[in-house]
Amino acid sequence: MTENCGRTVEDVRLCAVADVQDGPRRVVAGDRGLVVWIAADGAPRVFADRCPHRDARLSAGHVEAGRLVCPFHLWAFDAAGRHVGPDGVANPDCRVPRFACRVRDGAVWVEMDAVMS
Ligand code: FES
Repeated sequence: MTENCGRTVEDVRLCAVADVQDGPRRVVAGDRGLVVWIAADGAPRVFADRCPHRDARLSAGHVEAGRLVCPFHLWAFDAAGRHVGPDGVANPDCRVPRFACRVRDGAVWVEMDAVMS
């Protein structure tokens, strides 16, 4: 539980940080599929596990140059969830839903309300 604007919100433990050191991992919170991965800054990120191109599971992809790469057509997404083209330019109009997360006790946590909304 954490405090957010005066109300208590439920945190959900997704996985151990060690579980995503070698690549992205699919987790489910409520009925939502998520992908947890480690960005270039060494901190975990939590995205919807669904590529905005053709709905592939991003958790089946890999991390390359600090970006999450979709397994189907190799679209890459930066730590903010923006699609980054082969020219290295991020497209702010094409992004994967991203959820704020925190690390506590060696695990990755998100607020359940944020994931379910
Ligand atoms: S489905 Fe992800 S790049 Fe095409």
